[in-house]
Amino acid sequence: MKPMTVAVAGYGWWGKQLVKSASLTPKLKVAVVVDPKPPADIQDGSNQFGFRVESDFDKVLADKTIDGVILASPNAFHLPQTLAAFEAGKYVFCEKPLTMTGDGAKVMLDAAKAAGKVLGIGHELRYLEPVEALIDTIKNGTIGRLLSMEVNRSHDTFRTLPKDNWRKNPDPTMSPGGLYTGTGIHQTDIFCLIAGEPAEVRAETDTLVYDPPAEDYVRVKVLFKNGVHAMYSALSCTPYYSRFTAFGDKGWVELVAEGAIDKNKPMHLTVSTVPGERSTRVFSATADNSVKDNLDAWVDANRGQGTYRFTPQQMIDNTRIFEALVKSSRGGGVPVKL
Ligand SMILES: NC(=O)c1ccc[n+]([C@@H]2O[C@H](COP(=O)([O-])OP(=O)(O)OC[C@H]3O[C@@H](n4cnc5c(N)ncnc54)[C@H](O)[C@@H]3O)[C@@H](O)[C@H]2O)c1
Repeated sequence: MKPMTVAVAGYGWWGKQLVKSASLTPKLKVAVVVDPKPPADIQDGSNQFGFRVESDFDKVLADKTIDGVILASPNAFHLPQTLAAFEAGKYVFCEKPLTMTGDGAKVMLDAAKAAGKVLGIGHELRYLEPVEALIDTIKNGTIGRLLSMEVNRSHDTFRTLPKDNWRKNPDPTMSPGGLYTGTGIHQTDIFCLIAGEPAEVRAETDTLVYDPPAEDYVRVKVLFKNGVHAMYSALSCTPYYSRFTAFGDKGWVELVAEGAIDKNKPMHLTVSTVPGERSTRVFSATADNSVKDNLDAWVDANRGQGTYRFTPQQMIDNTRIFEALVKSSRGGGVPVKL
């Protein structure tokens, strides 16, 4: 079947990953990269992957040879670019976070529905084998009734970015909540997949090492309607660390990653259902493949082949958690009902 011809918006850290992963599947052809301020190495990428470079997003939307757009622009652009792209008749895959508010996410998903298209979302973790195994272990009852989940996913990748980089701007339209929009929103997506509808959020942020007002500490606690408690915390000023632990009334399961997803480091999945005994499986997992598998599933879903793993409700709920996190942390950790 003919590949879906797409434009990737934004050629920063993740735009490059998306172009590379898209090159691994016959289902996609990246014809254009559009970036108003492209990095110096974009010509190397163009030579390697064969895309042409544009600076005007609207011009790309007017191009009838482009079927869809993959948005890897800074967070504040996701909502307007998604709406404009659906309006222009394109397919849309949007990086996380979809946007900053639950209502905004609903507007995006309503636009997808009105266009008769499936909105893609950049939570490739759901397509990573060890994460699939973690989710399966929780869902198949191995650890009994799920009681709580605890995650810490920290890294210091953004520590050396200049003060005025969008990643260090805690404004609610840019990147509030410390590392939450970096690593946390992937984790609360998995919380929503496992535990269902969120009921209440309490969150704190702080500035420990960064220059204020940038936030480098975040902690969020989500209570789900089914009674499951889930907590995520992260520091933006310590070397890479990643642990996801789920506790049930008959055991626990824990996934530990040795490095960031694009560093292709091993991940260790440990299960214990008997006191003092545990078994560990080691996985090799790559961002290249999990991002590719997510893109493939998005293309397939738009061709009526298979169901995309993300429901619109989960995508809206996760964005509502993000919005509530900002509100709660600005209010000194007050509970915010959803
Ligand atoms: N799925 C993941 O695991 C993952 C990982 C990293 C980043 N991301 C997401 O990808 C997005 C980009 O993050 P990044 O780390 O690549 O950022 P970045 O700052 O490295 O790159 C952003 C790029 O977008 C360009 N840009 C700015 N305005 C634009 C516009 N209006 N249209 C098109 N391009 C524009 C910038 O010039 C820059 O080259 C963010 O939403 C981020 O959350 C996802």
